[in-house]
Amino acid sequence: MSERITKSMARNIYFGGSAFAILVFVGLTLDTVAQVPKLSHSDKITESVAKGKNLWEVNNCVGCHTIMGEGAYYAPELGNVFERRGAGDEVAFKSYLNGWMAAQPLSEPGRRKMPQFHLNEEQVNNLADFLIWTSHIEDHEWPPNIEG
Ligand code: HEC
Repeated sequence: MSERITKSMARNIYFGGSAFAILVFVGLTLDTVAQVPKLSHSDKITESVAKGKNLWEVNNCVGCHTIMGEGAYYAPELGNVFERRGAGDEVAFKSYLNGWMAAQPLSEPGRRKMPQFHLNEEQVNNLADFLIWTSHIEDHEWPPNIEG
């Protein structure tokens, strides 16, 4: 038997290998998609969380902030701001966020500015609920430290 790979062997390796890789890819994709509801706790998406996400989008918070690493790197990561500023306490976090949003922009010289969005208490609470929900997404401990 010759040591050379024949054309038909090469073709079989090509098609067999491709089919195998495609099957693995499809299988892993289905597995990931099936896990999304569990990882994201989608059952905890209340109306307030959905409103908060909408406010997050229309006010373009992501134009300055990151959320789970996605967004702009001008301002702090907010995917874990609930743990950072609320220490896991929802009531404390809501009152912190209302205070923070009302106080903007801070006038300290040299400090990066965040605009005043003129949101009412209900809207800020919606944003807080969205950020609380986000902080519970299973994102493999991202960001790596509490300061983001
Ligand atoms: C124009 C840029 C900009 C936009 C848009 C923006 N922010 Fe900010 N934000 C900042 C900056 C800069 C800081 C840090 C300010 C400081 O420390 O004084 C900040 C800080 C924060 C903090 C405090 C984070 C911490 O760890 O202390 C929260 C909460 C926050 N922003 C929420 C929001 C929300 C909610 C929105 C959308 C409604 C938003 N931001 C939109 C610039 C922005």
